[in-house]
Amino acid sequence: MLALFPDTADAAGGELSLGGVPVSRLAAGHATPLVVLCAETLRARARAYRDAAPDALVAYSVKAFPNVAVLRELAALGLGADVSTLGELSFALAAGVPGERIVVHGNNKSDEELRAAAEAGARLVVLDAEDEVERAAAAGVTRVLVRVTPGIDADTHAAIRTAHAGSKFGLPPEAALRAIRAGRSAGLDVAGIHVHIGSQLLDTQTARSSVDWAAAFAVDCRAELGWTPAVLNVGGGLGIAHVAEERPPAIRDFVGALAGRIRHEWELLGLPLPSLVFEPGRSVVGPAGVTLYRVGVVKRASESTTWVAVDGGMSDNPRPALYGARLTAVLAERLDEEPAGPYTVCGKHCESGDVLVDRVSLPEPRRGDLLAVPATGAYTLAMASTYNAVPRPAAVLVEKGEARVIRRRETVAELLAHET
Ligand SMILES: Cc1ncc(COP(=O)(O)O)c(C=O)c1O
Repeated sequence: MLALFPDTADAAGGELSLGGVPVSRLAAGHATPLVVLCAETLRARARAYRDAAPDALVAYSVKAFPNVAVLRELAALGLGADVSTLGELSFALAAGVPGERIVVHGNNKSDEELRAAAEAGARLVVLDAEDEVERAAAAGVTRVLVRVTPGIDADTHAAIRTAHAGSKFGLPPEAALRAIRAGRSAGLDVAGIHVHIGSQLLDTQTARSSVDWAAAFAVDCRAELGWTPAVLNVGGGLGIAHVAEERPPAIRDFVGALAGRIRHEWELLGLPLPSLVFEPGRSVVGPAGVTLYRVGVVKRASESTTWVAVDGGMSDNPRPALYGARLTAVLAERLDEEPAGPYTVCGKHCESGDVLVDRVSLPEPRRGDLLAVPATGAYTLAMASTYNAVPRPAAVLVEKGEARVIRRRETVAELLAHET
């Protein structure tokens, strides 16, 4: 039952605890909705990446959950940061991530962002458009990658697919070759290429084909430009289990399969082995997170549908409404009770699409119950809104029986403060 929850999840006495803190204590101390991150799980997953690719730069993809405390934890384990805006760069710098471990992305970087990347001494700026070559050089950027679009359709939702033909990200091969040539002429150190095919990948197949594609592209580079990539950035993408049917590969197996394939292909083609960059987001922070909600209205709407309304919803987790992401839930203080039937968990927002969990077996929910949704550390708060003028939730990091606030709950007064 707790397979989708963080490593430290426990069900003693029928109550969920995380990092040794019972959910009743978390809710009483910090209110709901509340994003709870397990420090041990976070670190274990970061270490798994580091151990699977000890020579690579592992740059945590800040977009998954931009949080200074999380970045500090990860930086202490040697991880870097992949940032795609000035804001994310500022978070990484605030956490003390050294510039030499920062990779700067963005499909529409402003001059200000390029200058900030240069000032931060970012290890790599990933060029995403041909006009970025001159603009990056003018901004003082020195070392770059070029993001290439292989035209591969990753087996994931269209909204999180990024390397298909016609993608807004990266450059098609011909344009990428031009950008590499232009970058070198402009005096940039064009260190290599970047390929990221999408997020929530549940097998290694597409990622491996992207590596094969990159190897073939490296051969084209050698033939056309007399240049081969010294750095290969394979992006992120490894999926996680949000529901029992999703069975992602382990981090070790995913990274091992990619690194092995790169070695094999590069040797086969007689290319000098590149140094690697991984940019995992979801697979680092996603499984470490659980969102706690308080149940309010329970409403039987039809023969087949009973709604369980919670005190958050699409404002703190837009993924189900945005692209049909599937989630599950438990009644966190009634884990030892038998299910009474299927229930559908909705939020409190003024949209019929504000559904968090479509049909989950629960004991009969009652007002005041705590409902926990696992695997919600990534792309939830990161994508949160204040729709319906609902302030965004707090986040806590739990470990050894203690909960530390790592992001304060927003208040209505703060929302009002923006009004004129
Ligand atoms: C360039 C790049 N790198 C890394 C990631 C992180 O992906 P994930 O969270 O699936 O690991 C993304 C997310 O889409 C991305 O666009």
